Amino acid sequence: MQEQIYINGEILPAEQAKIHVSDLGLVRGYGIFDFFRAIDGKPVFIEDHLDRFENSARLMNLPIPSSRGQLRDIILEIIRLNPHPLLGVKMIMTGGYSEDGYTPAEKSNLIVTGKPFSFKPADVGMKLMSLEYRREIPEIKTLNYIVPIRALQQMKAVGADDVLYHQNGKISESSRSNIFIVKDEKIITPLDGALFGVTRKHILSFAKNHFEVEERDVTTQEFWEADEVFTTGSTKRVVAITQTDNQVFSNGKVGKITQKLQELFLAHEKATEKNNA
Ligand SMILES: Cc1ncc(COP(=O)(O)O)c(C=O)c1O
Repeated sequence: MQEQIYINGEILPAEQAKIHVSDLGLVRGYGIFDFFRAIDGKPVFIEDHLDRFENSARLMNLPIPSSRGQLRDIILEIIRLNPHPLLGVKMIMTGGYSEDGYTPAEKSNLIVTGKPFSFKPADVGMKLMSLEYRREIPEIKTLNYIVPIRALQQMKAVGADDVLYHQNGKISESSRSNIFIVKDEKIITPLDGALFGVTRKHILSFAKNHFEVEERDVTTQEFWEADEVFTTGSTKRVVAITQTDNQVFSNGKVGKITQKLQELFLAHEKATEKNNA
């Protein structure tokens, strides 16, 4: 079945869902998005993603052309029309059709897509390549991924799966996921310079019932000296970082606290789904 896409008030088959060349997302990269999963037709943490999308829109001075209720209905319709056991849902909004190619239009362009999605196995860790960078406005989920996409060739050359952003002696996040370190059974995640990830938020909400948890600046030195490192995101849930540059963590295996959080997160996600049913 062909993918059905919502675009500016219409739902169309993918090949007919087109955007004009004057779109400000295309010509100036001015836009935001958000991504989440739907499992068996039920969106996971949808209200958190709507909150973040609204926050990104407000901080970017972009008006959302639909109310929250309308946007939720559009999302549910896209999930219904693209029936897959595991669906990745994306809301994209740009500065619209700009007359002068610079000033945002009165009406933003709004797109919602739903594509089949799959997770990588949870028992496999990832390798990161450190990269000196901090996203320009870290609290906004903008369309700008220029730096990590440009680094893809370099990553491939060193066998890395993703990047670790650091600047001025502090780490912040990876390209599309948040970073946590574990030291002496304490779980620590950067507060400044990172996107407020929805997965991160949920981990923080329940991890404090089991471990000591800190949200604060994390120095690169603390990172290198960590007992375990893991990363979190909607496309990953919780994944171990077993190596960064030449430094191997937890003997190249998924550490025991990371494993515990993987289990706790799965149970938490399931329980949230049940409550929403
Ligand atoms: C830069 C960045 N940091 C962190 C995250 C993780 O956020 P979430 O858990 O909401 O997927 C993402 C992905 O959304 C991201 O793009």
